[in-house]
Amino acid sequence: MALYSETVMDHFRHPRNVGVIEDANGIGEVGNAQCGDIMKMYLKIENDIIVDVKFETFGCGSAIASSSMATELIKGKPVSEAMQLTNKAVAEALDGLPAYKMHCSVLAEEAIQSALEDYYKKVKKDD
Ligand code: FES
Repeated sequence: MALYSETVMDHFRHPRNVGVIEDANGIGEVGNAQCGDIMKMYLKIENDIIVDVKFETFGCGSAIASSSMATELIKGKPVSEAMQLTNKAVAEALDGLPAYKMHCSVLAEEAIQSALEDYYKKVKKDD
């Protein structure tokens, strides 16, 4: 059996939503100290809907595929739904990750959470 699913390979080779959102109102950056990989998420939120999301990932193939899939899963969705996104849902949407690569999907969950926290901090400050 192949180590990585077709979906993982597709998102690794053709990652969706790569880049920067200049006027993002939620930005999160997380890293994994063990492997040294870094993921940055940019969110553009309007009326509690994630109208745009982009990422930059300096990391392994699974981290790139996880960030790509995670952005697809939250794009166009309400903030409340994005907050519920788990790394397990990302891995499932990728048709699975090898057990020792599950931490790569955790990075995607954490990056989105961190960007959402940043958004809430900014919203509160502007109130
Ligand atoms: Fe570090 Fe994949 S090996 S995120």
